[in-house]
Amino acid sequence: MNVSILLGPPGAGKGTVSNVFVAKGYSHISTGELLRGQIQLKTPLGLEAKASLDAGKFVSDTIVINMIRDLFEHAKQGDRFLLDGFPRNLEQAKELDAILKDSNATLDTVTLLDCPAEVIVERLSGRRTCSECGTVYHLSYNPSAKGLLCEADDAPLTQRADDLPETVTKRLDIYVSQTAPLIDYYQSQDLVRHVDASLSINEVRDAVLQTLEG
Ligand code: AP5
Repeated sequence: MNVSILLGPPGAGKGTVSNVFVAKGYSHISTGELLRGQIQLKTPLGLEAKASLDAGKFVSDTIVINMIRDLFEHAKQGDRFLLDGFPRNLEQAKELDAILKDSNATLDTVTLLDCPAEVIVERLSGRRTCSECGTVYHLSYNPSAKGLLCEADDAPLTQRADDLPETVTKRLDIYVSQTAPLIDYYQSQDLVRHVDASLSINEVRDAVLQTLEG
């Protein structure tokens, strides 16, 4: 089994570039998407996680670590996973090391999407998501051809509760204090590939592809 990690602040474009990895055979695992799925289904886990997500805070390490452990327990040899949104702090990174060791899996690369805070605020304030299929748009940079309806299924586009300006600021602060230290953690293992994520969507996707093929 092989694993890559997508690291970067909220709104840097992790979900947007994930299809580059998918085209290379990786399964895209976004802990944020998994949690939003549980919330939509109103499962006990979803009900527990909702307040944290809406407020822009992390859910407990135990919840996300169990989700990732479960994924690896059901994986097959030869599977490739792109982890988006996990790990998010040093405790989760160390737990991932243990999971990889137990599963005989290799961590290939950590792709870091570098993006300044002012760009992020603009991206998140303009993000709209299909209420049915979850396709992500941006009002200016990646608009739906059908206005405020999804191109794929005509469902209305909605704004995530955690994309309100005051919540975005809190998420960015938490990224700096809890997630950014992972850059040094993985840099010391020579795994980090930097990508300038402030460029256009196509330019960022091309740059990510180069890091995978280079
Ligand atoms: P999660 O869903 O992972 O949110 P995030 O990391 O904050 O990232 P986002 O999904 O907001 O942004 P993105 O980088 O994917 O950007 P996108 O491609 O959409 O997590 C949500 C919550 O779940 C967390 O706050 C926490 O509560 C919980 N959680 C998740 N994992 C956890 C963990 N491990 N531990 C604890 N809690 C956890 O792009 C953003 C917008 O910009 C879009 O509109 C897009 O169209 C546009 N865009 C993208 N790229 C470009 C570009 N290059 N140019 C112009 N526009 C662009």
